Amino acid sequence: MKPILQTEGLSRSFSVGGGFLQAPRKLQAVDSVDLVLNPGDVLGIVGESGCGKSTLARLLLGLLKPSSGRVLLGGVDLQALGPGELSKRVQPVFQDPYSSLNPRRSIADIVALPLEVHGLGNPAQRRRQAIDMLERVGLSSRHADNRPGQLSGGQRQRVAIARALVMKPELVICDEPTSALDMSVQAQILNLLLELRREFNLSYVFISHNLAVVEHVATSVAVMYLGKVVEQADSAELFKQPRHPYTQALLASVLTPEPGLGIPDTGLGLAFPDPLHPPSGCPFHPRCPQRMDLCASLIPTLGKVAGSSAALSCHLHPSNPVQGDRP
Ligand SMILES: Nc1ncnc2c1ncn2[C@@H]1O[C@H](COP(=O)(O)OP(=O)(O)OP(=O)(O)O)[C@@H](O)[C@H]1O
Ligand SMILES: [Mg+2]
Repeated sequence: MKPILQTEGLSRSFSVGGGFLQAPRKLQAVDSVDLVLNPGDVLGIVGESGCGKSTLARLLLGLLKPSSGRVLLGGVDLQALGPGELSKRVQPVFQDPYSSLNPRRSIADIVALPLEVHGLGNPAQRRRQAIDMLERVGLSSRHADNRPGQLSGGQRQRVAIARALVMKPELVICDEPTSALDMSVQAQILNLLLELRREFNLSYVFISHNLAVVEHVATSVAVMYLGKVVEQADSAELFKQPRHPYTQALLASVLTPEPGLGIPDTGLGLAFPDPLHPPSGCPFHPRCPQRMDLCASLIPTLGKVAGSSAALSCHLHPSNPVQGDRP
Protein backbone atom coordinates (compact mmCIF):
# COMPACT_ATOMS: atom_id res chain seq x y z
CA MET A 1 0.00 0.00 0.00
CA LYS A 2 1.36 3.42 -0.92
CA PRO A 3 1.51 5.71 2.13
CA ILE A 4 -0.67 8.78 1.98
CA LEU A 5 1.81 10.65 4.15
CA GLN A 6 5.42 10.06 4.96
CA THR A 7 8.14 12.05 6.67
CA GLU A 8 11.84 11.45 6.12
CA GLY A 9 14.33 12.81 8.65
CA LEU A 10 11.93 15.66 9.29
CA SER A 11 13.52 18.31 11.49
CA ARG A 12 12.75 21.86 12.47
CA SER A 13 14.71 24.15 14.73
CA PHE A 14 14.03 27.67 15.93
CA SER A 15 16.51 30.35 16.76
CA VAL A 16 15.57 31.79 20.14
CA GLY A 17 16.90 34.42 22.50
CA GLY A 18 19.93 36.38 21.51
CA GLY A 19 20.36 40.06 22.00
CA PHE A 20 23.10 42.41 23.11
CA LEU A 21 26.36 40.39 23.13
CA GLN A 22 24.34 37.19 23.24
CA ALA A 23 24.20 34.72 20.42
CA PRO A 24 20.76 33.22 19.74
CA ARG A 25 20.38 29.56 20.68
CA LYS A 26 19.06 26.78 18.55
CA LEU A 27 15.96 25.01 19.81
CA GLN A 28 15.40 21.67 18.08
CA ALA A 29 11.60 21.40 18.17
CA VAL A 30 11.32 18.41 15.79
CA ASP A 31 14.30 16.12 15.36
CA SER A 32 14.74 13.56 12.56
CA VAL A 33 11.19 12.24 12.56
CA ASP A 34 10.31 9.37 10.20
CA LEU A 35 6.62 8.59 10.08
CA VAL A 36 4.34 6.67 7.72
CA LEU A 37 0.56 7.00 7.44
CA ASN A 38 -1.33 4.56 5.23
CA PRO A 39 -4.67 5.46 3.62
CA GLY A 40 -7.59 5.21 6.04
CA ASP A 41 -5.37 4.99 9.10
CA VAL A 42 -5.25 7.30 12.09
CA LEU A 43 -1.75 8.09 13.29
CA GLY A 44 -1.80 9.27 16.90
CA ILE A 45 1.01 11.51 18.12
CA VAL A 46 1.40 11.75 21.89
CA GLY A 47 3.82 13.39 24.28
CA GLU A 48 4.07 16.05 26.95
CA SER A 49 3.61 19.76 26.43
CA GLY A 50 6.55 21.19 24.47
CA CYS A 51 7.69 17.91 22.90
CA GLY A 52 7.08 19.26 19.39
CA LYS A 53 3.62 17.98 18.43
CA SER A 54 2.23 21.26 17.09
CA THR A 55 5.47 22.06 15.29
CA LEU A 56 5.17 18.67 13.61
CA ALA A 57 1.53 19.45 12.70
CA ARG A 58 2.54 22.76 11.14
CA LEU A 59 5.26 21.02 9.12
CA LEU A 60 2.74 18.43 7.87
CA LEU A 61 0.36 21.22 6.86
CA GLY A 62 3.07 23.09 4.99
CA LEU A 63 2.64 26.05 7.36
CA LEU A 64 6.29 25.74 8.41
CA LYS A 65 9.25 24.74 6.29
CA PRO A 66 11.52 21.95 7.53
CA SER A 67 15.07 22.86 8.55
CA SER A 68 15.98 19.51 7.01
CA GLY A 69 14.24 16.36 5.84
CA ARG A 70 10.93 16.33 4.01
CA VAL A 71 7.22 15.59 4.05
CA LEU A 72 5.78 13.47 1.23
CA LEU A 73 2.09 13.55 0.37
CA GLY A 74 1.20 10.59 -1.83
CA GLY A 75 4.93 10.27 -2.57
CA VAL A 76 5.34 13.91 -3.65
CA ASP A 77 7.36 16.44 -1.65
CA LEU A 78 5.08 19.03 -0.07
CA GLN A 79 7.44 21.75 -1.28
CA ALA A 80 6.63 20.78 -4.85
CA LEU A 81 2.87 21.21 -4.35
CA GLY A 82 1.32 24.65 -4.75
CA PRO A 83 -0.55 26.04 -1.72
CA GLY A 84 -3.86 25.63 -3.57
CA GLU A 85 -3.36 21.94 -4.20
CA LEU A 86 -2.05 21.38 -0.69
CA SER A 87 -5.08 22.97 0.98
CA LYS A 88 -7.42 20.93 -1.21
CA ARG A 89 -5.81 17.71 -0.05
CA VAL A 90 -4.78 18.43 3.54
CA GLN A 91 -6.84 20.35 6.08
CA PRO A 92 -6.35 21.16 9.77
CA VAL A 93 -8.62 20.97 12.78
CA PHE A 94 -7.03 22.87 15.66
CA GLN A 95 -7.60 22.84 19.37
CA ASP A 96 -9.20 26.17 19.83
CA PRO A 97 -12.50 26.63 18.03
CA TYR A 98 -12.76 30.07 19.63
CA SER A 99 -9.84 31.69 17.91
CA SER A 100 -9.83 29.75 14.64
CA LEU A 101 -13.25 30.98 13.48
CA ASN A 102 -13.74 34.56 12.33
CA PRO A 103 -16.18 36.03 14.89
CA ARG A 104 -17.69 38.46 12.39
CA ARG A 105 -18.69 35.99 9.69
CA SER A 106 -21.72 33.74 9.62
CA ILE A 107 -21.29 30.01 10.12
CA ALA A 108 -22.32 29.30 6.52
CA ASP A 109 -19.78 31.83 5.22
CA ILE A 110 -17.02 30.34 7.36
CA VAL A 111 -17.68 26.83 6.03
CA ALA A 112 -18.04 28.07 2.44
CA LEU A 113 -14.84 30.13 2.52
CA PRO A 114 -12.50 27.36 1.23
CA LEU A 115 -14.86 26.84 -1.75
CA GLU A 116 -14.78 30.57 -2.43
CA VAL A 117 -10.98 30.69 -2.17
CA HIS A 118 -10.74 27.88 -4.73
CA GLY A 119 -13.30 29.59 -6.97
CA LEU A 120 -15.75 26.67 -6.82
CA GLY A 121 -19.45 27.20 -7.64
CA ASN A 122 -21.53 30.35 -7.28
CA PRO A 123 -22.56 31.88 -3.93
CA ALA A 124 -25.88 29.97 -3.78
CA GLN A 125 -24.19 26.64 -4.56
CA ARG A 126 -21.52 27.29 -2.00
CA ARG A 127 -24.10 28.12 0.66
CA ARG A 128 -25.98 24.90 -0.17
CA GLN A 129 -22.78 22.87 0.10
CA ALA A 130 -21.87 24.56 3.39
CA ILE A 131 -25.31 23.83 4.85
CA ASP A 132 -25.13 20.19 3.69
CA MET A 133 -21.79 19.87 5.45
CA LEU A 134 -23.11 21.58 8.61
CA GLU A 135 -25.95 19.06 8.70
CA ARG A 136 -23.49 16.24 8.21
CA VAL A 137 -21.49 17.28 11.27
CA GLY A 138 -24.61 17.45 13.43
CA LEU A 139 -25.60 21.11 13.13
CA SER A 140 -28.76 22.29 11.46
CA SER A 141 -29.47 24.84 8.77
CA ARG A 142 -30.80 27.19 11.43
CA HIS A 143 -27.20 27.66 12.61
CA ALA A 144 -26.15 28.86 9.16
CA ASP A 145 -26.62 32.55 9.91
CA ASN A 146 -25.35 32.46 13.48
CA ARG A 147 -21.97 33.94 14.39
CA PRO A 148 -19.39 31.73 16.17
CA GLY A 149 -20.04 33.60 19.44
CA GLN A 150 -23.60 32.25 19.48
CA LEU A 151 -22.49 28.62 19.51
CA SER A 152 -21.17 26.33 22.24
CA GLY A 153 -17.57 25.07 22.20
CA GLY A 154 -18.61 21.68 20.82
CA GLN A 155 -20.75 23.30 18.12
CA ARG A 156 -17.87 25.56 17.14
CA GLN A 157 -15.60 22.56 16.79
CA ARG A 158 -18.25 20.99 14.54
CA VAL A 159 -18.08 24.14 12.39
CA ALA A 160 -14.28 23.83 12.22
CA ILE A 161 -14.68 20.19 11.12
CA ALA A 162 -17.27 21.14 8.48
CA ARG A 163 -14.91 23.80 7.15
CA ALA A 164 -12.04 21.29 7.02
CA LEU A 165 -14.14 18.73 5.13
CA VAL A 166 -16.00 20.94 2.67
CA MET A 167 -13.13 20.63 0.16
CA LYS A 168 -13.18 16.81 0.51
CA PRO A 169 -9.53 16.50 1.60
CA GLU A 170 -7.73 13.14 1.84
CA LEU A 171 -5.92 13.96 5.02
CA VAL A 172 -6.92 15.89 8.13
CA ILE A 173 -4.33 16.99 10.69
CA CYS A 174 -6.05 17.28 14.08
CA ASP A 175 -4.03 19.09 16.74
CA GLU A 176 -5.68 18.56 20.13
CA PRO A 177 -9.13 18.84 18.51
CA THR A 178 -11.05 18.02 21.68
CA SER A 179 -8.75 19.33 24.42
CA ALA A 180 -10.69 22.54 24.96
CA LEU A 181 -14.02 20.73 25.29
CA ASP A 182 -15.92 19.19 28.21
CA MET A 183 -15.46 15.45 28.63
CA SER A 184 -18.92 14.49 27.33
CA VAL A 185 -18.56 16.74 24.29
CA GLN A 186 -15.07 15.36 23.62
CA ALA A 187 -16.52 11.89 23.12
CA GLN A 188 -19.15 13.19 20.69
CA ILE A 189 -16.56 15.01 18.60
CA LEU A 190 -14.22 11.99 18.57
CA ASN A 191 -17.02 9.72 17.44
CA LEU A 192 -18.01 12.23 14.77
CA LEU A 193 -14.42 12.29 13.46
CA LEU A 194 -14.43 8.49 13.31
CA GLU A 195 -17.76 8.37 11.43
CA LEU A 196 -16.56 10.98 8.95
CA ARG A 197 -13.37 9.05 8.39
CA ARG A 198 -15.35 6.09 7.06
CA GLU A 199 -17.81 8.19 5.10
CA PHE A 200 -15.26 10.44 3.39
CA ASN A 201 -12.35 7.97 3.17
CA LEU A 202 -10.19 10.16 5.33
CA SER A 203 -6.85 9.56 6.96
CA TYR A 204 -5.98 11.44 10.11
CA VAL A 205 -2.93 12.55 12.00
CA PHE A 206 -4.33 12.90 15.48
CA ILE A 207 -2.30 14.85 18.03
CA SER A 208 -3.13 14.73 21.70
CA HIS A 209 -1.43 14.68 25.06
CA ASN A 210 -4.37 12.59 26.27
CA LEU A 211 -3.58 8.91 25.83
CA ALA A 212 -7.14 7.78 26.47
CA VAL A 213 -8.28 9.89 23.53
CA VAL A 214 -5.54 8.54 21.29
CA GLU A 215 -6.31 4.96 22.28
CA HIS A 216 -9.92 5.54 21.23
CA VAL A 217 -9.14 6.81 17.73
CA ALA A 218 -5.65 5.84 16.57
CA THR A 219 -4.66 2.80 14.53
CA SER A 220 -0.97 3.49 15.14
CA VAL A 221 0.79 5.70 17.64
CA ALA A 222 4.07 7.61 17.77
CA VAL A 223 5.32 8.76 21.18
CA MET A 224 7.41 11.94 21.08
CA TYR A 225 9.95 13.17 23.58
CA LEU A 226 11.93 16.38 23.11
CA GLY A 227 11.30 16.48 19.37
CA LYS A 228 12.09 12.82 18.70
CA VAL A 229 9.92 9.77 18.22
CA VAL A 230 10.96 7.35 20.99
CA GLU A 231 8.42 4.60 20.34
CA GLN A 232 6.04 3.81 17.55
CA ALA A 233 3.70 0.85 17.14
CA ASP A 234 0.23 -0.25 16.15
CA SER A 235 -2.16 1.23 18.65
CA ALA A 236 -3.37 -2.09 20.07
CA GLU A 237 0.20 -3.25 20.64
CA LEU A 238 1.43 0.01 22.12
CA PHE A 239 -1.34 0.15 24.71
CA LYS A 240 -1.04 -3.55 25.54
CA GLN A 241 2.71 -3.71 25.68
CA PRO A 242 4.43 -0.33 26.00
CA ARG A 243 8.19 -0.93 25.80
CA HIS A 244 9.88 2.42 26.22
CA PRO A 245 10.16 3.52 29.87
CA TYR A 246 8.72 6.88 28.83
CA THR A 247 5.68 5.30 27.20
CA GLN A 248 5.23 3.13 30.30
CA ALA A 249 5.30 6.24 32.50
CA LEU A 250 2.82 8.04 30.27
CA LEU A 251 0.43 5.12 30.41
CA ALA A 252 0.72 4.92 34.18
CA SER A 253 0.15 8.64 34.59
CA VAL A 254 -2.98 10.40 35.63
CA LEU A 255 -4.57 11.85 32.54
CA THR A 256 -5.84 15.35 32.29
CA PRO A 257 -8.23 16.94 29.84
CA GLU A 258 -6.53 20.29 30.39
CA PRO A 259 -4.63 21.53 27.35
CA GLY A 260 -1.23 23.04 27.92
CA LEU A 261 -0.74 21.32 31.27
CA GLY A 262 0.93 18.30 29.79
CA ILE A 263 0.84 15.26 31.95
CA PRO A 264 0.54 16.23 35.59
CA ASP A 265 1.94 13.19 37.29
CA THR A 266 4.13 10.97 35.20
CA GLY A 267 5.75 9.60 38.35
CA LEU A 268 9.00 10.72 36.74
CA GLY A 269 9.94 13.31 39.32
CA LEU A 270 11.90 15.77 37.27
CA ALA A 271 10.08 18.10 34.94
CA PHE A 272 10.31 18.03 31.17
CA PRO A 273 13.86 19.12 30.22
CA ASP A 274 14.68 22.56 28.90
CA PRO A 275 14.77 22.12 25.13
CA LEU A 276 17.49 24.80 24.92
CA HIS A 277 19.74 22.60 27.06
CA PRO A 278 18.85 19.04 26.04
CA PRO A 279 20.42 16.23 28.08
CA SER A 280 23.38 14.34 26.64
CA GLY A 281 22.90 10.80 25.37
CA CYS A 282 19.31 9.58 25.51
CA PRO A 283 17.18 12.70 26.03
CA PHE A 284 15.01 10.80 28.50
CA HIS A 285 17.83 9.47 30.70
CA PRO A 286 17.65 12.06 33.54
CA ARG A 287 14.06 10.99 34.26
CA CYS A 288 14.32 7.34 33.34
CA PRO A 289 13.73 4.88 36.18
CA GLN A 290 15.71 2.23 34.30
CA ARG A 291 18.69 4.28 33.09
CA MET A 292 22.07 2.64 32.71
CA ASP A 293 25.52 4.25 32.61
CA LEU A 294 25.71 4.36 28.84
CA CYS A 295 22.38 6.22 28.53
CA ALA A 296 24.05 9.50 29.56
CA SER A 297 26.55 9.37 26.73
CA LEU A 298 25.10 7.36 23.86
CA ILE A 299 22.17 8.51 21.77
CA PRO A 300 19.84 5.60 20.99
CA THR A 301 18.31 5.43 17.51
CA LEU A 302 14.90 4.19 16.53
CA GLY A 303 15.17 0.47 15.69
CA LYS A 304 12.57 -2.11 14.69
CA VAL A 305 11.59 -4.65 17.32
CA ALA A 306 11.74 -8.10 15.74
CA GLY A 307 8.42 -9.89 15.39
CA SER A 308 6.29 -6.87 16.25
CA SER A 309 4.91 -3.65 14.80
CA ALA A 310 7.00 -1.59 17.21
CA ALA A 311 10.03 0.61 16.68
CA LEU A 312 11.90 1.76 19.73
CA SER A 313 14.68 4.17 20.65
CA CYS A 314 16.06 2.79 23.91
CA HIS A 315 19.29 1.13 25.04
CA LEU A 316 17.33 -1.38 27.09
CA HIS A 317 16.40 -3.02 23.84
CA PRO A 318 19.38 -5.17 22.85
CA SER A 319 18.80 -5.26 19.09
CA ASN A 320 18.78 -1.51 18.89
CA PRO A 321 21.77 -0.08 17.03
CA VAL A 322 23.76 2.64 18.77
CA GLN A 323 24.60 5.80 16.87
CA GLY A 324 27.64 6.92 18.84
CA ASP A 325 28.77 9.60 21.20
CA ARG A 326 27.05 12.88 21.32
CA PRO A 327 29.55 15.60 20.33
N1 LIG B 1 7.96 29.87 16.59
C1 LIG B 1 8.70 29.37 17.58
N2 LIG B 1 9.83 29.97 17.98
C2 LIG B 1 10.59 29.48 18.97
N3 LIG B 1 10.32 28.32 19.62
C3 LIG B 1 9.21 27.66 19.26
C4 LIG B 1 8.34 28.14 18.23
N4 LIG B 1 7.30 27.25 18.10
C5 LIG B 1 7.53 26.28 19.00
N5 LIG B 1 8.66 26.52 19.70
C6 LIG B 1 9.25 25.66 20.75
O1 LIG B 1 9.34 24.35 20.22
C7 LIG B 1 9.05 23.39 21.22
C8 LIG B 1 7.90 22.52 20.76
O2 LIG B 1 6.70 23.30 20.74
P1 LIG B 1 5.30 22.73 20.25
O3 LIG B 1 4.32 23.84 20.28
O4 LIG B 1 5.51 22.02 18.97
O5 LIG B 1 4.98 21.67 21.42
P2 LIG B 1 3.66 20.79 21.69
O6 LIG B 1 4.11 19.40 21.86
O7 LIG B 1 2.64 21.11 20.67
O8 LIG B 1 3.18 21.36 23.12
P3 LIG B 1 1.67 21.49 23.71
O9 LIG B 1 1.26 20.11 24.16
O10 LIG B 1 1.84 22.43 24.88
O11 LIG B 1 0.79 22.04 22.65
C9 LIG B 1 8.75 24.16 22.49
O12 LIG B 1 9.91 24.19 23.29
C10 LIG B 1 8.39 25.54 21.99
O13 LIG B 1 8.69 26.52 22.94
MG1 LIG C 1 0.66 21.91 20.74
